[in-house]
Formats: sequence, C-alpha cells, structure tokens
Amino acid sequence: MAYSVPHLKDFSPAALDRAVGELLSALDQESGQVGDAAQRKAFRDRWLARKDGILTQINELWLKAAPREAKRDVGQRVNKLKAEVEAKVEAALAAPVREAAAALDISLPGLRRSIGAEHPIVRTMNEILAVFRNLGYSVAEGPVIEADYYNFEALNFPPEHPARDTQDTLFIANQASKPPRERLLLRTHTSPVQIRTMEKMRPPLRIVIPGKVHRRDAPDASHSPMFHQVEGLAVDTNITFGDLKGTLDHAMKALFGSDVKTSFRPSFFPFTEPSAEMFVSCFICGGSGKRGADICRPCKQTGWIEILGCGIVDPNVFEFVKHNGYDPEKISGFAFGMGVDRMAMLRYGVDDLQLFFQGDVRFLEQFG
Ligand code: PHE
Repeated sequence: MAYSVPHLKDFSPAALDRAVGELLSALDQESGQVGDAAQRKAFRDRWLARKDGILTQINELWLKAAPREAKRDVGQRVNKLKAEVEAKVEAALAAPVREAAAALDISLPGLRRSIGAEHPIVRTMNEILAVFRNLGYSVAEGPVIEADYYNFEALNFPPEHPARDTQDTLFIANQASKPPRERLLLRTHTSPVQIRTMEKMRPPLRIVIPGKVHRRDAPDASHSPMFHQVEGLAVDTNITFGDLKGTLDHAMKALFGSDVKTSFRPSFFPFTEPSAEMFVSCFICGGSGKRGADICRPCKQTGWIEILGCGIVDPNVFEFVKHNGYDPEKISGFAFGMGVDRMAMLRYGVDDLQLFFQGDVRFLEQFG
C-alpha cells in the first residue's frame, strides 16, 4: 500500500513521533525504488509538488488542523520534517540510475556459451582435401539426389548391367514415368561429379570431390546407409598409372605418416580400366598384424587396410563428354574414390561407425 498522509486527531508528542516515523520510513522505502527519468519526476512531484504534494498535505492535515495549544510544537516539528524530506528527496534524485546498476552486476559469473567444433568426419574430409589442394587440385561438388545418367550410365554402367547390383542403390519413389536415364536416386558414390565437372570444364582438370553418398546397408559398427567419400579426378595429356600411384602414395604418407606403404591390387569398376584397390600398411600395428600378444583388429591381422578404389579413366567415360574436349584419343586420366568415415575411425581410434552419426555431445566434444 502506498503511503498517504493521515488526518491527525491526537497531537501529543508521542503521536507526532509515530506519524513522523511512519512518513520518513515510507520516504526511505520509495527513495530506493526510483529508476528512470519518468519515475524520478513522479517521485519528486509526489513529495514536493506545491499543489497537493505530501509536504503540502502535512501543512493542511497536521499544522492547520492542530489545536491552538499544540500549534507551536507541531509547527516546529513540521518545519524540521520539511527540511528533512527535502534533503532526502534531493539525495535520492542525485543517486545514479538504479536500473543501469541492476542490469550490470559485474560480480555475477559470466554466461558461458560452449563453442562448437568441426565434426571428426568433416575434419578428416578437410584434411584429405588440403593434401590435394597442395598438389594443385580444386574442389568440386554435386547433388546428393542424382539422375541415373550421372550415377550409372555416363560412368559406363549400361542399363541392366550387373555391375549396378554392387551399388545397393536407394531409388527415389514414383520415377517410373520418366525416361530411365532421368530417374532419380540417392547417389551411391561421388563419381557422378566426375561427369558433371567434365561437362562444365575443359581439360586439363584436377579436382577433388567431397560429399555424402547412400547405399542400402543396415547400420552397424562398420556400415551406414549414409557415408562420405572424397573422389579425385586428374585429366591431361599422357596421364599414366605411374602418376596415379605416385599421387596416391604421396597423399597417404601426408595423411598417415611417411612410414606407410601403399599396395595396389587389381579390381573392377566400369568407369576405370585398369582398376585397382589401394591398401595402406596398417599404421595401427605397423604392418605386423599384431598388437603385443593380441591381434590387430583394424587390419584383421593382415597388416594392410583397404582405403580406396582407383584406376585409369575408361575411354568409354570420355565418350560421354567428348563434346567438351575429352577426346579419348588425345587425353587420359586417373580417378580414385576413398571412404572418409573409415579413415576417420582409423585416425581417431573409434571402433563404432554409428558414434559419428548419433550426435551425442559426450562423444563429439572429445574432438573439440
Ligand atoms: N566410385 C567407386 C566406389 O564408390 C570408387 C572409385 C572412384 C573407383 C574412382 C575408381 C575410381 O566404390
């Protein structure tokens, strides 16, 4: 309840003491609550306004109302009280703005906002890209939802070719009304971006292509229906398998340390000929297949870890982009595609692929 000046009936010194005490404590309390400029003006008017301010009311309700025998005493007290009220009001108005003081309490602990970090897969991907950037490669990207033509046909997987079966493709529904090459699917590798880039840029070409890919695999400790690849493509005159081996051997030493060895074993991809799988000597066990008395799990005791697929670009692939300067009689190239997720598992000693995709902060913050 806001203070209001009482009508005095009892003018004894004790009653006056009480009335004065109540008034001053109301004033003290209100002085502590003045904030912005509007509140200050209202506060000042309430106490000091000539017309109907509290001091004016005291004159009316206490001094003028006092019986003659008490007038002298009441007059003295009211004068003293007026001086006191004026001084207190002025002091409260001179105090620094309380609102600002309350908003900035420098003794409170600060608000800590945790800083995010690169996801370990993104970090691994960026490290791979950096190695190739240093060799003069540029970065290219393409869509995750891809047309059959780019994912398969222009990469020399003819319609109905059995090599398509190896790709465990996730198809987009309701595409049957489209011509087969326009039907959409989730790309199963980053290789379609080879074609997309060659359509846009004439040779010579050196590109790396990071991205997400999808295959119909049930998630477990080493499989995921979504994973990541970094693709590479170099096209020029006189590119040989020696260039491929030298480039990838350098890249693996840059990524895993200068001690690692590389090994190329024959393989098959429709878009490269010859094709190979490249292995690196296991950098966990140093190639021995053993860890102390135990077997080395990451390389399954073989001493070698499969890292990527690669090969010399099949001339049939260049036929699809011949119009843009890719004449298989004049140019040649090599290509490779590596799985980023497994490289990240090996680099960080993570034994369950799913940990990368569950978004658990307790896992992810270990990479900050
Ligand atoms: N695209 C192939 C895969 O995902 C890898 C690869 C890329 C092989 C380039 C050769 C050349 O399995």
